[in-house]
Amino acid sequence: MQTVKLKIQRSEPSSGKKVSYDEFEVPVEEGMVVLDAVHYVENNLDPSLAVRWNCKAARCGSCAAELNGMPKLMCKTRVDTLGDHITIEPMKAFPVVKDLVTDVSHNYEVAKKIPPFTPKPEMKSPFLINQIDITRSKEFRTCIECFLCQDVCHVIREHHSDYFGPKHVVKIASLDLHPADCIDRSELLYHEGGLGFCDITKCCQAVCPEDIRITDNAIIPEKERIVDHVYDPIGRLIRVVKGRKW
Ligand code: SF4
Ligand code: SF4
Ligand code: FES
Repeated sequence: MQTVKLKIQRSEPSSGKKVSYDEFEVPVEEGMVVLDAVHYVENNLDPSLAVRWNCKAARCGSCAAELNGMPKLMCKTRVDTLGDHITIEPMKAFPVVKDLVTDVSHNYEVAKKIPPFTPKPEMKSPFLINQIDITRSKEFRTCIECFLCQDVCHVIREHHSDYFGPKHVVKIASLDLHPADCIDRSELLYHEGGLGFCDITKCCQAVCPEDIRITDNAIIPEKERIVDHVYDPIGRLIRVVKGRKW
């Protein structure tokens, strides 16, 4: 029977267990995904292995990990696409709770800072929205909150608390680009959100399992809004005349 060798990172900081790697040999079945292989280990070889998962259908975002160094969903990645040896590690941008489980709560703290959808006072429900705006907003709403884009972002890894991160720029863009919304969140992104740190490398866009064009459709439009506010002389003049800070 064909087998695959898994090298899995183990650690548990709360009990002082330092980082080490355990190797397991797992029988391969047709169509097997990495999460199946990890479940085989958990069920047959080492029940103490900690892994977070929920849907096994690439919908909940909870099985995010680094597979051979690349941030991916374990339930969406077929074993036969990764070769005979697969190294499985937790997301490196977040503190490890145990083995493959990371603490992503920082993202929920950032999410609390983002003002929610606030309709223009003159808008009457139900809102009539152009199809083009619905299509644009739909892309952002496919986000499954896996945080793979946060994990791959070198700014998050190096300046954790100074940049909200691509996942949150997607959320902000989905609200800012909504035609019925009346809040401009680019000021929040500029000052507290640290969007200036992003150098548009597009690494986040490359790993998104939902193929959201994070950099092209969310980050760059928000950067353009900020440039209009901060550097465009006509925009600045209008702001001064109208007595607006932003
Ligand atoms: S494009 Fe910006 S947000 Fe995306 S990975 Fe690069 S630095 Fe991070
Ligand atoms: S934008 Fe994509 S990579 Fe980032 S959290 Fe959402 S689904 Fe995951
Ligand atoms: S288990 Fe839900 S996305 Fe993988």
